[in-house]
Order: sequence, then structure tokens, then C-alpha cells
Amino acid sequence: MRFTGAHILSIDQFARPDIDRLFAVADDLRPYADRLRTTRILQGAILSSMFFEPSTRTRISFGSAFNLLGGEVRETTGIKASSLAKGESLQDTARVLSGYSDLIVMRHPQAGSVAEFAEASRVPVINAGDGDNEHPSQAFLDLYTIKQEMAGRGQGIDGLRIALIGDLRFGRAVHSLCKLLALYNGISYHLVSPPGLEAPEAIVAGLHQRGHHVALHHELEAGIRNVDILYVTRTQEERFPTQVEANRYRGLFRLNQDIYTQHCQPNTVIMHPLPRDSRSAAQELDADLDENPNLAIFRQTDNGVVVRMAMFALVLQVAEQVHDHAQPVTWYTAKRMP
Ligand code: CP
Repeated sequence: MRFTGAHILSIDQFARPDIDRLFAVADDLRPYADRLRTTRILQGAILSSMFFEPSTRTRISFGSAFNLLGGEVRETTGIKASSLAKGESLQDTARVLSGYSDLIVMRHPQAGSVAEFAEASRVPVINAGDGDNEHPSQAFLDLYTIKQEMAGRGQGIDGLRIALIGDLRFGRAVHSLCKLLALYNGISYHLVSPPGLEAPEAIVAGLHQRGHHVALHHELEAGIRNVDILYVTRTQEERFPTQVEANRYRGLFRLNQDIYTQHCQPNTVIMHPLPRDSRSAAQELDADLDENPNLAIFRQTDNGVVVRMAMFALVLQVAEQVHDHAQPVTWYTAKRMP
């Protein structure tokens, strides 16, 4: 099992049986994520949550996941709030934090930085997004959601047809999801981006190498026909050298109900790693899709907790013992409502 005691830095580390195991553990932990039961299996364990870039979903869901397993979370948000701002190296920070924690989750603006940090850490490190490189836990929860959505349609992941739309150059969630899906059989990738924001060549080459079908599109309408999943992404404006350059891409691709009705097959699932850019000039995923039952974006975010719980349970090797430490929930929780 590649999760046990490991740093989780890239999807490249994993094979299909690892993902099957992760999803089985996530299914098993569902009652705890849904507050039907509680467990103290990680009582006494400390997670250091180090987010040197903005985050809502990843930071809070990793923290909630650790708390739901009974562990404690210590957070640092922003480089200015850490001694990195005083010139401390990533290596020294890793040596210090691994004396204080049993596990570290880290997001950082530079590609490769989390791996560099992990080399000096004595405890497992999970990459919560390193620049434009990868976001493995996002890919895990995305694929877990895809599996659920496709099961509801009587299908599996093999043979999936997916359109990945938007900023495929800088979108780390897309990079990790492309690699993760490539572990399955016969995937059709439709890579839909404005010219200049195409997926990195190395990623596309990896998909070809594994025998998958890849089509590149520069027009939204051409790329979204005949697929099972639309995976929409925002322009990663923070990765561009200047705002002027980022603005060139703002609002180029916008999916709304009208375009969906005209060009997509009924039942096409709509996903987005979020945040979506709701500013009027952007709106890559229009709010008029919010009532569309095929919009899975908040099912994705909900799944973020249970999938991250499963990651922790596997890395810290407690997945088999969770139920031994279980209690029923006695307090009111809306999660228990049907
Ligand atoms: N999907 C994602 O990484 O969201 P946050 O930036 O809010 O964590």
C-alpha cells in the first residue's frame, strides 16, 4: 500500500489498486464524515496545516477531516505569518514542524516546493497544491465524485469521456486529474482551452503513452459534445506574470444553461474544482446552472472531507481500527437529516 507512512506529492506515486483502496476506506468512513458516528482514532495526533496561498476548501476540509478522526490541527496561513518571511528555508521549517506534528499538509505557490519541504521532513507531508504543478487530493475527491456520478448512470470509470475546459496550462487540479484518470482504461480526453493555455506537453504525452484518446479544442462548443463529464476550471490569474496578460483570457469560455442545453447530451455531469470566478467579466461557470441536477460541484466539495479522512487513515495506518473507537452522535446535526 503506497499510502502508509508516505509523503503524498504527486499522482505519479500511485497505481489503480491504491485508488480502489482509498475509495473503499472513504466509503467506510462515510458515517463519520456525515456525523452519524464519531471516532477518536487519531486522539493525540497533531496535524500542521501550512497554507502559503489562499484556500477555502482544501484547508478547511483537511482540517475538518483530521478533527473528525479525533486529531488536533495547528494552522499557519500566509507566508507573512510564518518565519519563511524572515528568510527561513523550507528545509529548516520542515525540520522544526516535523518535531511538532505527526503529519503536515502544505500548499505553496512554487511548483516542487512541497517535495523540497518533504525531503527534510521526518513525518509524512501531503501536497495541498504546489504552484501550477499538482493538487493530488483534489484529483482523488474529483475521481471519487466521478465514480459516484457515473454509478448513478449505470457506468464505471473505464471508457469515460471527459472534457477538461479552461486554463489547462496553469490548472494544477487538471494536471492531477488527467494523470489519475490515466490509470483507468480507454479514457477519451477533450482538452478545451484558449490558445496559449493548453495542457503541458508532458501531461498530454503521458496520456498518449497509456493509450488514451486525446483531442485538443480551442472552441468551447466543439469540445463539450459527446462527453460524460464537463470539468470546468477558472483562469489561474495568480500564475500569470502580469494582470494585463491574465485579463486577455478572462471570460473567454463561459458555460451556461443555454450552451449546455444546445450542445451537451442530457445527463452530462458538470464539475469544477472551485472556486469559480463569479466576477461579471469571468463567470466560466454561470450561476444559472445552479439548479441543474447534473451540477456536481457541491457534491465534490462535500466529498473533500471523506476522501481526505481516508487519506489520513491510510497514511497513519488506522483505517482498520476506526470502528473500534466509534461512538454514536448524541448532539443535533443537520447532516443526519435525509
Ligand atoms: N479546489 C481548491 O483547491 O479550492 P481552495 O483553493 O479553496 O482550497
